Amino acid sequence: MNFSSSVLLGLAIIGILISIGVKIQKILILHHKGKIIPGPPSDPLLGNILDLQKNRGFPNYLPMLHSQYGKLTKLWLGSSNFVVSISDPNLVAEVAGTLQSLPTTIKQPFTWVGDEIYFFRQPQEAKSIKIKLSRLLSGETLDCLREATQKHTTRLLDLWTSSQSGQTIDVRDELSQVSLTIIGDCLIGEEFSNSSLGEEISASFIEVLKGVQARSEEVIPAIWDSSYWKWKKTVSHLHQCIYDSIEQRKQDPNLNQRTDFLSRVLGEKDDSGESLFTKEEIRATIISFLFGGFDAVAVALSSACYILAQHPDIQVQAQAEVDRVLGGRLPNFDDFKALEYLNQLLKEIMRINPPSSVTMRQVESDFELAGYHIPKGTILFISISALHNDPEVWLAPEKFLPERFSPEKEKQRSRYAYIPFGVGSRGCIGGNFAMTQLQLMLPMLLQKFSIQEIRDRAVISKSEASAVSLRTRLELLTVSLRQSTLLSKCFGIRLPLPSMKSILLCPSQTRQEFERANDVQPDDRATLLFVARSHRQ
Ligand code: HEM
Repeated sequence: MNFSSSVLLGLAIIGILISIGVKIQKILILHHKGKIIPGPPSDPLLGNILDLQKNRGFPNYLPMLHSQYGKLTKLWLGSSNFVVSISDPNLVAEVAGTLQSLPTTIKQPFTWVGDEIYFFRQPQEAKSIKIKLSRLLSGETLDCLREATQKHTTRLLDLWTSSQSGQTIDVRDELSQVSLTIIGDCLIGEEFSNSSLGEEISASFIEVLKGVQARSEEVIPAIWDSSYWKWKKTVSHLHQCIYDSIEQRKQDPNLNQRTDFLSRVLGEKDDSGESLFTKEEIRATIISFLFGGFDAVAVALSSACYILAQHPDIQVQAQAEVDRVLGGRLPNFDDFKALEYLNQLLKEIMRINPPSSVTMRQVESDFELAGYHIPKGTILFISISALHNDPEVWLAPEKFLPERFSPEKEKQRSRYAYIPFGVGSRGCIGGNFAMTQLQLMLPMLLQKFSIQEIRDRAVISKSEASAVSLRTRLELLTVSLRQSTLLSKCFGIRLPLPSMKSILLCPSQTRQEFERANDVQPDDRATLLFVARSHRQ
C-alpha cells in the first residue's frame, strides 16, 4: 500500500470512529434523558439505510415503521443522523407552529438554485418574504394559470386523440412536460413556450434536473469529472437565460398590464420606490417554483389516471358531473364549486398517493414530544403517507372513497390529518396554485377520455359515445419506476430522472411481453404509472 492509500485509509477509519462516537454520544443522551423512543434496530454504521432501500424508500418504509412501532418512531440514517418520525395529527399540530427550520438534507438538492432562495433564510425572514410571494402567485397570476392550462392541456389532449395507431404515449412523461410548460408560462410569461429564450430555459432546466440527483449525493464536488463541469455550465446558462428574461421584461412597454409572475414581481416596490426583489432573488424564486411545482402536479394527475382506471364506477360518476356542469366547454374558476365530486376525488387521490410522502424539520433545541425527549440536532419527519393511511382516522384507508372529503366529513377530522401540501409556515407556497391547475386539467382529461387499465392483452383502443361528446378510451399499462438512487429512495422525491424508463408499447405486445422486454419487476409497481395509447377508430 503506498503512502497516499494509507493516508486515505487512515482518514476513513478516523471518520468511521468519529461517526460511531457521535452515535454513541447521541444514544447516551437519549437514554439518559427520558423514555426510550421505539424504533427498529439499526446498524452501527449504516443505521436503517439498508432497510429503507429494501422497502423502496420513505413512501413505503415510514408507514411500515409506524404500523409496527406506533405514531412516534425513531430511525438512523447513517451512523449519526438521528430521525424521529411522527404520524399523529395531534403531534403534527404540536410541531407545526414551533419547528420552522429545514434540515440541510432538504436544502441539498436546491443548492444549485442559489443562496437567494427565500426558504433558505431564517424562519422569520422566510415567512415575511413568503407572504409577499404568495400574494404574487394568486390573484391575476391565477388568470394566467387558467389561460395557460386551457391552452396547453387542449393541445396535448388533441394530440393524444389524433395520434396514429401503434403510436405510444408516455402519459406520465407528457403530463410532466405539459405541467412544466404551464407553470413556465405563468412564471415567466408566454415567452416561456413561444420564444427561443423560453426554449433555452426549458431545455437547460431539464438538463440541469438530470444531474441534480447525482450532484446532491456527492459528499465532495466531483471536480475531476467532466460531467460535473458540464452540469455547472448548464446551471450558469440557465441562470443567465433567466436574467435575460428579466432584462427583456423590464423593457416591455406592457409590463404593467401583464399578469405573469415575473411581470408582477418586477412591479413590487418598497416605500422608497426601489424594487423589492433583486434579480438574483427573482431568478432563485422562479427556478425554485419551477422545480417545486411542475412534477408534483404531474404525479397527482398520473395517479388520477391510474386510480380512475381501477375504479370505473367512480370515473363514470366524475364524468357525469363534468358533462352536467360543463356540457363540453372548458372549465373555469366559477365551475369549481359545482364540480364538487371532482374536487373530492382530487383530494382523495392526494390522500392515497401523496406526491410528497414526507416532510422534514430541523430540531434546533431540545424539546418534549408525547413524553419523549427529542434532542437538538434531531431531524423530525412528518410521514404524510402514514398520516394519510392511519386506520384510526380513515376507515379502511386502502379504499379509494372520494366521499371522505364531503364538507361534513371534513369538518369531523383534524386539519392535521390530511396534509398533502405540508403544514405551518413552511407549508407549500404553491398549494392553491397546484389545486387550481388540477381542478382545470382533470375535467378536461375526463371530457375527452375514458381511462381503462389493461392487463394481459394487446392494447387496442376504442372510442365510445358519451352524452356530450365522443370519448377516446385511454388504456393504461402501469409499471413502476425502479427508483435507482439513494436520494429518491430516501426522500421520496420524484424527479424526472434520466434513469426513469421511457416505455414504448407496441399495440401487439401483451403486458407480460412488455414487462419481459423492458425488465420491469412486476412486484415493484407501487409508485409509478405509465403509458397508454389510444386513437379514434
Ligand atoms: C400537487 C402539487 C404539489 C404538492 C403535492 C406539493 C407538496 C409540497 C410539500 C409537501 C411541501 C413541504 C411542505 C412542508 O414542509 O410543510 C412543499 C413545499 C414547497 N412547494 Fe410544493 N407542492 C406542490 C406544488 C407546488 C407548486 C405548483 C409550487 C410553486 C408554484 C410549489 C412550490 C413549493 C415551495 C417553494 C416549497 C417550499 C416551501 C417553504 O419552505 O416555504 N409546490 N410542497
